[in-house]
This record gives sequence, structure tokens and C-alpha cells, in this order.
Amino acid sequence: MEAVLAPDVKVEPIKPKVGAVVQVDKATFLDKAFIPRCLELIERHTALVFPRLGLTDEEQLAFTDSLGERVNFTDSVPGGDESTKDVYTITLDSVVNTDPEYVFGSMFWHMDGIISDIPPPKFTLLSCHQPPDKGGQTEFASTYAAWDALPDEEKAELEGLRVVHNLVAGLHGVLEPDEINPAKRGMNHEHPLVWTHESGRKSLLIGHHADYIVGMPKPQGRALLARLLEWAGQPEFSCRHTWQTGDFAMWDNTGALHRALPYSEDSGRRMHRTTVAGYEAIA
Ligand code: SIN
Repeated sequence: MEAVLAPDVKVEPIKPKVGAVVQVDKATFLDKAFIPRCLELIERHTALVFPRLGLTDEEQLAFTDSLGERVNFTDSVPGGDESTKDVYTITLDSVVNTDPEYVFGSMFWHMDGIISDIPPPKFTLLSCHQPPDKGGQTEFASTYAAWDALPDEEKAELEGLRVVHNLVAGLHGVLEPDEINPAKRGMNHEHPLVWTHESGRKSLLIGHHADYIVGMPKPQGRALLARLLEWAGQPEFSCRHTWQTGDFAMWDNTGALHRALPYSEDSGRRMHRTTVAGYEAIA
């Protein structure tokens, strides 16, 4: 058990380099005084799990707002209503979600918002409203830790490379290119492979959505991206959470990959997601 921040907050790392379970009651969690502690914890562990917190949508939105500006996904995602705008219901239930392909896309390692024109969201927050009867755990991989552990020689080779990310790559295995909305199909987003954050930390900008490396033959670049994704996802840098009703998780989307393990449409899985906007452009 790690040092106790206060008698009412107990922190247990999941792995030395990524993830921590934070035991805290709802009143302490929702108290504004908890925010700076929470930010310290996420800086240190990258992904935090709060078992059985049981947040309502309104409480989750209030917490989201205390971390920064929320990203409004209401127009493009299912499940939101007027009173809980910006809450995205992640489900394969076809009554709620008529566009399941994006949920299937979340079963591959990815960062949120990397293929949009705004800075990548800083934090993603997820509440479990109904756990799946089978599968559907969420995995987190620290791309800070994955970068830090690379040999210096390899770091020198990777710095300066640029990567093109797009939806065609992000939905590879889910949709054929010609099944993707034509307005989005041709959109490419070029980013450095290595993100030097304002804090001085560095992370890898990789994921299923990373299509190719600029200036490198595509097969060679894709092999390198696949290798880096495997590197980041290895057990030393990644952890897994098995959901129970009421569990809440949040992670630093700018230094972590995440994915859901496969689950089926009739698994019952229903998660509510909110997102805090990024404030730091990729550098
Ligand atoms: C997500 O990709 O934002 C959600 C992951 C999950 O459903 O576990």
C-alpha cells in the first residue's frame, strides 16, 4: 500500500509504472479540496481507478468541470440528453447506439481526439453503469513510461519523425475505407512521433490510428509503428481494470493509450464518458 494522502484517501499502485486504485468516499472525491490531490496522483500514475464511487451523470459532469473545460461531443455521439449534455454513453446496445463502429474502434489501442483539429483531450473520465457479463475490461498503457524505457540510441532515431494519423487506420479491422463517411475518410493529421510536453516529460504519439511515418517507405514505417505499439502495451507499461457497477476511472489521455477488451452487443456493458479538453498543443 502506497503512502496515504489523508486518512480518507488510500492509494494502491496497480503497476509501478502505470495505474493506481484510489479508495475514497464520494463526498471526499467531490470536495474541491480533492482536485489538487487528484491531479498529483494522475501525474504520477497516469491512470486512476476509483472503485464503486457510484457517480451520477451530474456529479461526473461537476467533477469534469472542476478539472478544466469539457469537450462537447453531444452532436456526434449517442446517449446524451439536454440535462446531461456532454455525457457519451458507450454501448453496443443498438437501441442507444446506431453507430457501433466507433465503439468497435475503441477495442484497439488508441488516444482520444488525435484525429481532430483541437489539442488532444487532457483527461478521459469513465463511469461504469453496467459491467459486461463477459470481457469488456479496459486497459491503459503509459506512453510516458514506454518512451522513458527506450534505449537512448533508439530515442535518438525516433525524435524528429512525424506520423500521419487518420480514421481509415483507426477503423482498420472495423470498417473498409469506402464504408467511412467520405467527409472524414480523407482527413489526415500529422504529429511528431515524440511529444515533448510543457512539463518536460516525453511520450510516444502512437495508436491504431497511426497510419504511416512521413518520408519512410510505408511498410517500414508501419512495422516500426506496430513495434512501438507492442512495446508500449507490454505488461511493464500497461494495466487492466475489470469493471463493477459504479467504478470510475480517469486517465491522462496525452500520455496514455487505452482500449476495451472485446465484448458483445448483448453483454449489457454501458459506460458513461466525459472528457476534459486539452490545453497543450502537440510539440
Ligand atoms: C474509450 O475508448 O473512450 C472507452 C474505452 C472503454 O469503453 O473501455
